Amino acid sequence: MQKKSTQLGHFSKSGLLAPSILSANFAKLGEEVKAVEDAGADWIHVDVMDGHFVPNLTMGPMVVQALKSVTKLPLDCHLMVSQPELWVEPFAQAGADWITVHAESTVHLNRVIHQIHECKCKAGVSLNPATSLTQLEEVLDIVDMVLIMSVNPGFGGQKFIENSFDKVARLNKMRGQHPFLIEVDGGINAANIGQLKSLGADVFVVGSAVFSADNRANAIQKLRAGLCNGLREK
Ligand code: DX5
Ligand code: ZN
Repeated sequence: MQKKSTQLGHFSKSGLLAPSILSANFAKLGEEVKAVEDAGADWIHVDVMDGHFVPNLTMGPMVVQALKSVTKLPLDCHLMVSQPELWVEPFAQAGADWITVHAESTVHLNRVIHQIHECKCKAGVSLNPATSLTQLEEVLDIVDMVLIMSVNPGFGGQKFIENSFDKVARLNKMRGQHPFLIEVDGGINAANIGQLKSLGADVFVVGSAVFSADNRANAIQKLRAGLCNGLREK
């Protein structure tokens, strides 16, 4: 399989905002996605939970398929499911652009990454807060993105785990010649996004910071301002 990650460098310059629809109003999902797209979001983050790998149930490929018709933004599907190999193809067929699986959810991580690439999607690997970066060593040359969970997965609106700053910095050092993106997910807000950017993160998942705000556009603007501060610190 041809390695796809070689053209990823341009993504990371100013930081990408990926609003998580987990915190959106599900009764108005299409409108919510349009609103954040119009406000300048870069990706739409789709949190998929199976009630087994994490203690919550959310959405499946049908939601991804429906969203595909309302937005042009890349759909960033974060699979918090057991046996992710069963779900790669359905999500790819539904229109996922990025598919991220948890290292803890499969004993065949290498195989699942190749499966994602064979479905013509970009492949991400996510680590729970308690999982060591060493779990990634043997796949760093084939992943397009590493997602650092900065909360325990399962729910939006949780408090950012402070140790994640150091984890992002250590992962950034491990990048070397491997051009994968670093995504951070959980508890991100205008106050901590700049620091994460300055430590090397490229993609920022933002749920409640965007969808709990009265004005989505203002919330996105504040996060962008936070990102600019991070760029200045670099
Ligand atoms: C947690 C999810 C996150 C979460 C982000 O399991 O993966 O995407 O919804 O929401 P906030 O930004 O509210 O922590
Ligand atoms: Zn997520």
